[in-house]
Amino acid sequence: MSSAAQSLRLIVILFFLAMAVNWPYAFSSTYLNTPVDQFKEFLNESLGGDMTEGKYDLWWDLIQNIWFVGFFIGIFLNPLVNDRLGRRYGMLIANVCILFAAVLQWLAVFLHVPVLLIIGRAIASTATAVAFQSLVLYLQESPPTHIRGTVSFLSEITFAIFCIEGTMLGTDELLGNNLPWLTASILPLCIFAVIYLYFIPETPKFLLISGAERSAVEHSFRFFHGPGVNIPAVIKETEIEITQESFSITCSPSILLALDLIRVSHLRKALFLSVCCLQNCIALWTFIYNSTHFLEDINIDSGISKWSATAMMIVYAIFTIIGGSFVDRWGRRKILIPFSYLNALSIALFTLFTQLQKAQDFWKYFAVAALIFYASSYGFGVGAISWFISSELTPIQYRTLMQSACYSINTISVVISTFVVLPFYYWIGSYCFLILYTIPSMFCLFYITRNLPETKGKEIHEIVNELKN
Ligand SMILES: *[C@@H]1O[C@H](CO)[C@@H](O)[C@H](O)[C@H]1NC(C)=O
Repeated sequence: MSSAAQSLRLIVILFFLAMAVNWPYAFSSTYLNTPVDQFKEFLNESLGGDMTEGKYDLWWDLIQNIWFVGFFIGIFLNPLVNDRLGRRYGMLIANVCILFAAVLQWLAVFLHVPVLLIIGRAIASTATAVAFQSLVLYLQESPPTHIRGTVSFLSEITFAIFCIEGTMLGTDELLGNNLPWLTASILPLCIFAVIYLYFIPETPKFLLISGAERSAVEHSFRFFHGPGVNIPAVIKETEIEITQESFSITCSPSILLALDLIRVSHLRKALFLSVCCLQNCIALWTFIYNSTHFLEDINIDSGISKWSATAMMIVYAIFTIIGGSFVDRWGRRKILIPFSYLNALSIALFTLFTQLQKAQDFWKYFAVAALIFYASSYGFGVGAISWFISSELTPIQYRTLMQSACYSINTISVVISTFVVLPFYYWIGSYCFLILYTIPSMFCLFYITRNLPETKGKEIHEIVNELKN
């Protein structure tokens, strides 16, 4: 097989892997958002038909926000599951839990027992956090170095695509009016995911560090790199990465390793860089969920506002695919840094145009354009790279811990910004976006521009060496 065909084969295999994790993830993130009225009716009927608005708000908040609680817990399970049991078993167990949780959520709707919906979402979110981190590890550890960037984009690409699908599925025209079918629709996919994952081997790098038999390591390298892979060469590269740090993960307690993230200078640098990158991603959900609201405020009619939200999602997905095909040609710095600046600029422009609209109404259309510009620059170069850069900057022994540290800090920032953005918006108007997003992003970007090494085409041990200097 030619090397291009080989790359294509691997991309297809890992696309399905990414889909197995991100389809249920995107579904859970979106399926509540469109059929809001139907869920309200479901709650009312389930609670005896005399639900008050206050009681509704309480249940609805619980159903929605339990997701973030579970996800936060799942982030910390990463070193325990994906290091102790391995990436493969971590993902497999997590997906069995996601299947179980999907059944619970379907039963909740079918039998009118809303508490099952909360339990189901709690289990799903915890397991999703584990599976998602395992997916990023797979995308980083299994491919040959020259397509590691493109392959790592698959996570963001599948997530974007299935968010659109999940949002559309919830409309009245599709399954929005039939909650049992809506919640059942994800079950076949969850079953497929478990079966598919069963046939995917463990990542070769994890097999090597956990001291697996040589034949298993070679089988995994051949599966992911193709039958023509130069086994001694790839094993040697990975062994350099492993011996760079002087211990093995299977015997060191995580809590001691966690301190190293602060104490050891190259790990600290990787931590700061990754947290700074993720800082640039925080505005996305605010704009996707609340754009309709912000646009209606500047006198855009409600049809166009709703349409703009959908357009943002579609543009985001398309530009993520384009970004993925450039990342291994241009490199990470050349994509991440300019596009993050453009992304921050687009928020500033949105603020400017909404302020100008107060003087002259036609500026509102520029504000819509600024949002589309935001989604495209985010898709092309901000989102995907920011989510995998922590794994790329970190030696294998610390990788899961690094992910847990960065993703948990990011989750806290997202929760805080989601809580304060609307009150802040009512208080000082669109200037709040500058304070909450643009200014912090600028500080992070200065740091990234100064310190981020180029990682394109480099082995992890070479990247870590650059961080040490
Ligand atoms: C619940 O249903 C009852 C009866 O149909 C209705 O009077 C009440 O307003 C509903 N509660 C909410 C919060 O919609």
